[in-house]
Amino acid sequence: MSVDPALVPKRKLYTGALMPAIGLGTFGSDRVPAEGVAQAVSGALEVGYRHFDCASVYGNEDRIGEVLRGFPREELWITSKLWNDKHAPEDVVHSCEQSLADLRTDYLDAYLVHWPFPNFHARGADVTSRSPDARPYIHREYMETWRQMERLVDLGLVRHIGTSNTTIPKLELLLRDARIPPAVNEMELHPHFQQPELFDYVRGRGIEPIGFCPIGSPTRPDRDRTPEDTVDIEDPVVVGIARDHGVHPAVICVKWAVQRGQTPIPFSDRRNEYESNIDSVVSDALTEDEMRAIAGIDKKDRLIKGQVFLWKANQSWEDLWDPDGVIVGGG
Ligand SMILES: NC(=O)c1ccc[n+]([C@@H]2O[C@H](COP(=O)([O-])OP(=O)(O)OC[C@H]3O[C@@H](n4cnc5c(N)ncnc54)[C@H](OP(=O)(O)O)[C@@H]3O)[C@@H](O)[C@H]2O)c1
Repeated sequence: MSVDPALVPKRKLYTGALMPAIGLGTFGSDRVPAEGVAQAVSGALEVGYRHFDCASVYGNEDRIGEVLRGFPREELWITSKLWNDKHAPEDVVHSCEQSLADLRTDYLDAYLVHWPFPNFHARGADVTSRSPDARPYIHREYMETWRQMERLVDLGLVRHIGTSNTTIPKLELLLRDARIPPAVNEMELHPHFQQPELFDYVRGRGIEPIGFCPIGSPTRPDRDRTPEDTVDIEDPVVVGIARDHGVHPAVICVKWAVQRGQTPIPFSDRRNEYESNIDSVVSDALTEDEMRAIAGIDKKDRLIKGQVFLWKANQSWEDLWDPDGVIVGGG
């Protein structure tokens, strides 16, 4: 079932660079250790993946780098991300250089600011924990970080820079002040959380949306679950379409994502799963009716709420996402 990478659709970024329209996620969370994720990267290369979504905080770039070493670099798309504890201007270049060393590469195709807050938490922290100097979004500080991201492009260490977990009001300020605008925005996107306003906003400004948790992250840790969460792969519409196509509902989520125009980065350490995910983007397209049916099941159900990045006790997670179109708490 292996897929010819040349057949995988590509997204053209504002620089003219082509990014494969599906990537492999590499966040093993509490479940899959670094070695298991590295094995998945190795298997994914064999079945046709050329795009890998990495991050320093996933704690496995060094093992992934050992797998990527020796593979023709120009055939790969490698993303990494600056973690929240490295926003200080003096830390950005160093943090990127560490990811480059770990991933055994001279440059990254994309480097993203993982969250627009310098707030972080201990590994495995529960959702009520707050870092001692946690604070809201402060645009002046974010721009100091962004100037260093721009410097990474100037230094030739990074080809594109981008945002993640951001909002329209924050992007408005960034686009006003950036010398090098973001080329990609990584955001949660799956059938039950389609974010049409942000999706249209970024695409309208030449920023490619990369969709994380494209299957609704069914194996995410308990700390990222709340009672009101819904399950994409149990949705009757998704299940019905999957039955008609003879595939798992997860595959329909991936297929829908690519056809809608975002770049999903599903994770799995099971070969049959990551293989069927990439196969789904080159075969047996969804019909317009099926695409419309899935467009109709958005439940505005954000799964990765980000509670540990809040800056006050007893605060609502919604404050991270500027629900009224105004940046909450900072500015
Ligand atoms: N920028 C950010 O802040 C951010 C946040 C979250 C995630 N991410 C990125 O997004 C990636 C994906 O997110 P995610 O892993 O949380 O969620 P996901 O890709 O939506 O879900 C992954 C889970 O779906 C199941 N699955 C995958 N393919 C399947 C298939 N073909 N059939 C059946 N089940 C399948 C697997 O569970 P089983 O193993 O049980 O089958 C797998 O563990 C991460 O690895 C990371 O790179 C980025």
